[in-house]
This record gives sequence, structure tokens and C-alpha cells, in this order.
Amino acid sequence: MTPEGDCSDPITSRLDRQTILTILGQIGGQADHLRVEVEQTLDSTNDHLTRLRSAGRAPDVVVANEQTAGRGRRGRQWISPPGAGLYLSMSRSFSKPVGQLGALSLVAGLAAAEALEACCGVATGLKWPNDIQFDGRKLAGCLIDIEGHANAPTAIIGIGINVDFRGQAGPDQPWTDLASVVDPVPDRNQLAARLIRQLHQRLSDFDQHGFESLQEQWAKRDALYGRDIMAMGAGGKPLQGRAMGLGEQGHLLLERNGEIVPLKSGEIALLRRV
Ligand code: BTN
Repeated sequence: MTPEGDCSDPITSRLDRQTILTILGQIGGQADHLRVEVEQTLDSTNDHLTRLRSAGRAPDVVVANEQTAGRGRRGRQWISPPGAGLYLSMSRSFSKPVGQLGALSLVAGLAAAEALEACCGVATGLKWPNDIQFDGRKLAGCLIDIEGHANAPTAIIGIGINVDFRGQAGPDQPWTDLASVVDPVPDRNQLAARLIRQLHQRLSDFDQHGFESLQEQWAKRDALYGRDIMAMGAGGKPLQGRAMGLGEQGHLLLERNGEIVPLKSGEIALLRRV
């Protein structure tokens, strides 16, 4: 796949707010009016943005060079060494009730996959519900925190991308980084700008037209389609079946004994192909 723009630029590899804003202006979209904050070190960009919101002075986007308490899904740690990844959170208010925001991690994953394609030509797969993979290994992930009024919620959408982990310990699951899959490694300011633009666009699409408007784009990257999987729901018993894509609301459709069972949430393990 050919990238839309050349995102490599080692000279600007230090994260810089003005550089991100300049690139946002150049690549267009509606995102160039967003307020962006860049910090050297934060505990977690999601937590920082949540605190700023309570203090009434939140930017729209926070990017950090390092996180000391980066959070992954289900209480896991997100390993976030200085300069090795892109750690970014965006806040966004919705006109939908909180019960209709279940597909947000799918929307964020799609935006991250599109940004990676546009920036450095990396074609990724999406593993429901929130992993961005390259060749079956985790390259990026999304974490959604929701706050505010149940009928007018605000989401803090956090995305972490492994950029260059050479010489660093990674997570204890199959993972990869951009340095292992693309040469040269993309500049993080370029990647941040692409991600902000794409995330802003896809969140607007979702707010106005629902997940069904993004279903086709998501399906093109579905890493589970047709695979035999084991789904572990929250507190429920493991369910084995074949992944048959996503429904209009973003539920995973699991085929079991000739029936389709829609799953709202869960962790997925792939069963070996025989
Ligand atoms: C996962 O796949 O488990 C979710 C990973 C989410 C990591 C990002 S990095 C930016 C934001 N801040 C955090 O503390 N977590 C998210």
C-alpha cells in the first residue's frame, strides 16, 4: 500500500505541539481548530485529561512523550517508555446516551488503522474489540473512559501506538512496533497529527451516523473474520465459535451450532487452525 504522505522525519522526532498543529493545518480536515497539549511526562494521558476536565480547562487532545502509569484495558498496564510510543488522548462529547457508545473502541481502532496507513503505509488488522495488529501481533490499543451525564456523555479516547521499542522491554503478549515493520520509522509528530485528524473525523461520523456507517471500513480490516475463536465474556463462561464479522451496533457475531450469537464485550483468543 502506498502512504498518502511521507511521515518519516528524524529531525522532528521530538514531540512538539507547534509542529503537530502545523502538520494538522497542512493535512486539512476539520481537526485543525482543536486545542492540543503536549507534555514530556504524565502518569496517563487519559487520567490527565480527565483531571483537566474536572478543573474546567481541558484541551481536546493530550499527547505525552512518556507515561509513568499508562493504563490498558481490564486494569492492565500500558508500557509507555519515553520516546518509544505515541500516547494520545482525545476528549469528545456526544449527543447520544451512554448506552449507545459501546462501539467507541471500534471507531478509535479504525481511526488508528487509517492513520497508520496514511502516515507510513502500514496495513493493520483490527481484532475486536480494541486491538490494532500487524501480522497477528499487537501494534496499538485503545482505552475508552466515559464520564459526565448519562444522556450527554463525554468520552476520553486513549490510543497507544508502539513506535520504536528497540532496546526496551515490551508487554507480555505477542506485540510489535513500527520500527519492526516499516523503514524509516515515522516521525511521531506526523503520526500524532494524522491520528488526531482521523480520530476527529471518525468520531463525528459515529456521532452523526452511528457505527453502521463505518461497518464496511471496519470489516475490510477484520482480523478475526472466519476464524475459530474462544470468547471470554465478563464473568460469563467461555464461548467457542466462529467469528462472522460485526453487527450494526459493533457486536461480534459468533456462529455456534448453526446460530449467530451477538457478543457485546469480551476478550478473544484465537483457536489454532488445524
Ligand atoms: C489496551 O489495548 O489495553 C489499551 C491501551 C491504551 C493505551 C493508551 S496510551 C494513551 C492512553 N493513556 C493511557 O493510560 N492509556 C491509553
